[in-house]
Amino acid sequence: MSNFIKETKEAVTVYNGDCFACLADIEDFSVDLIFADPPYNIGKKFGNFMDVWPSDKHYAEWCYKWLELCVKKLKPNGSLYIMASTQAMPYLDLWLRERLTVLSRIVWHYDSSGVQAKKFFGSLYEPIIFCVKDQKNYTFNASDIEVEARTGATRKLIDYRKEVPTPYKTTKVPGNTWYMPRVRYRMPEYEEHPSQKPEALLERIIRASTNPGDLVLDPFSGTFTTCAVAQHLGRRSIGIEMQSEYFKIALRRLGIADHFNGELLKPVDKTFIRKNGNGVQQSREAQQDGLFDVKV
Ligand SMILES: C[S@@+](CC[C@H](N)C(=O)[O-])C[C@H]1O[C@@H](n2cnc3c(N)ncnc32)[C@H](O)[C@@H]1O
Repeated sequence: MSNFIKETKEAVTVYNGDCFACLADIEDFSVDLIFADPPYNIGKKFGNFMDVWPSDKHYAEWCYKWLELCVKKLKPNGSLYIMASTQAMPYLDLWLRERLTVLSRIVWHYDSSGVQAKKFFGSLYEPIIFCVKDQKNYTFNASDIEVEARTGATRKLIDYRKEVPTPYKTTKVPGNTWYMPRVRYRMPEYEEHPSQKPEALLERIIRASTNPGDLVLDPFSGTFTTCAVAQHLGRRSIGIEMQSEYFKIALRRLGIADHFNGELLKPVDKTFIRKNGNGVQQSREAQQDGLFDVKV
């Protein structure tokens, strides 16, 4: 008997179970893109799971084990994107560059409307590493992710170095600093989860590193943002999540089921405002701030 629940509908398969057991169920060399956003080892609470390891070394060792499995699942021309806390990323970077080719170290940065650190510089970014198995053979759809090339000029700039003077291209492939707002309580995509990633972030990654019909895998799916975006973009996907309360989000968000064990699956009721430990009402936005801040 397997120690996970697995549901498939059309192009999407979702697992409720530990990533090690679920990854073992996936065919080797079958995946085009892996997006991994593991727990951070910073004491977040993901449902029943407390995100703390005894030390950085223990956490890194745990990451290396599932990363090893992920690398096996990737096709020879596959790509891997990994997010981690700013503190943990150096360990993972060293491990990754011994096995894959790191092409970009991306900084996803955002603004904060809430309380920020006053005795040090508060954390307003999350690092992402983009690596590939074969640097001579991988998918990168540059023209599908172009953004406006801001020159600061109000008039169209002309390139006079060309034989026939031509206006400069007004779009470009984004660099490695990505400004995208975090998922806020008032946004339609918001789900009840402490570290949901924005659909815009996954859209850029999936468009760049896959083609329609390709297979995307997310071993730590949370609210299943990766599968939702893959579905929207006509890619196949596999999502894994240990907590059943987040797995229920998958079933509803991806249109797989509207009930789970007899329970009707409903979206978040957004009229609720949580109180903090002092009984003071705190907005959801304030609760999400300073993810990787040093605790002093
Ligand atoms: C940082 S969150 C992922 C958020 C996700 N990217 C999103 O957009 O919602 C990490 C998730 O990994 C899950 N998790 C932790 N340990 C796991 C394990 N061993 N196997 C599978 N999922 C796990 C947590 O429950 C949590 O939802």
